[in-house]
Amino acid sequence: MPTFKLLLLPGDGIGPEVMAEMKRVIAFLEARGLAAFAIEEDLVGGAAYDAHGKAISEAAMAKAKAADAVLFGAVGGPKWHKVPYEARPEAGLLRLRKDLGLFANLRPAICYPALADASSLKRELVEGLDIMIVRELTGGVYFGEPKTITDLGNGQKRAVDTQVYDTYEIERIARVAFELARRRRNKVTSMEKRNVMKSGVLWHEVVSEVHRREYKDVELEHQLADAGGMQLVRQPKQFDVIVTDNLFGDMLSDVAAMLTGSLGMLPSASLGEVDAKTKKRRALYEPVHGSAPDIAGTGQANPIAMIGSLAMALRYSFGLAETADLIDQAIAGVLAQGLRTADIRGEAKRTVGTAAMGDAIIAELERKSA
Ligand code: IPM
Ligand code: MN
Repeated sequence: MPTFKLLLLPGDGIGPEVMAEMKRVIAFLEARGLAAFAIEEDLVGGAAYDAHGKAISEAAMAKAKAADAVLFGAVGGPKWHKVPYEARPEAGLLRLRKDLGLFANLRPAICYPALADASSLKRELVEGLDIMIVRELTGGVYFGEPKTITDLGNGQKRAVDTQVYDTYEIERIARVAFELARRRRNKVTSMEKRNVMKSGVLWHEVVSEVHRREYKDVELEHQLADAGGMQLVRQPKQFDVIVTDNLFGDMLSDVAAMLTGSLGMLPSASLGEVDAKTKKRRALYEPVHGSAPDIAGTGQANPIAMIGSLAMALRYSFGLAETADLIDQAIAGVLAQGLRTADIRGEAKRTVGTAAMGDAIIAELERKSA
């Protein structure tokens, strides 16, 4: 069995707590001979700032580049609200995305039947929901230059962010979406704002062109991103794969996450280009949720998104789809048993903490693999 090189970056807030539960799942997989890993760990975000004065060290970046997959917890918190903009905790994550070339962010929003009542929408609207948001992750307004605040000298300042996309960036993210759709329900919805943005005009044109040239067998639909947001909360089950830019994808994926009951449920994969020679791609896996400083250290965080992110690593980086399914089924299993962390409480009377949820998932894994 190959040994996969993992870099663990627990980060700040609840990051280390949820990652501790994920490590127990790793230990389970190794003990069962289901996978073998060489594991390194390093700091990112505020934790790295406290140790090194920057949001990620060069040594940690080098480890990330050498890894088969990076597993990332969460970054940020009030403790670092006053650090310089360049060293803010989020800068560590953004640098990882950019320098590893992780242009494709996959955010599956699945509503487990047991959680349909934890959603803010009615059960019939979300039960069985299974959508995949494909967010462009290394371009657009997140990285466009100029990005400045200038003092105009008259008591006014001017802030500039730049939304910029080249054809190749739109082509490659569109291909990721179409490929995924072929293995799902064969439908892609592309979202942009071509009615006010030039980048939206180009986005629409390029996605349509890639579709015409290479993916005629897949159904393609276009929605303006504002209307798309509305449709996501009106009738979410109309969607299969949604492809959109970096900023719209950030917002729409938080909306989609809440449909499933809680942000604490959603894993994500950030993938680079497949290397023609090695057939490998750089990859980082992380929960969609943040560092939740309000509950950090209290043992209440939901570890499911982090454990689900490990399952995505098995699926997308290591070709271990069956083991990934096993983990996903163990998660569904504990939810069906009625176990709930506080974020997905719904009507449940009793909630469990982070470690008890981890215990239950391990027990379910043991049962299902016996
Ligand atoms: C996310 C987060 C990040 C983003 C932050 C932490 C920089 O909100 O992954 O969705 O905006 O991309
Ligand atoms: Mn976000």
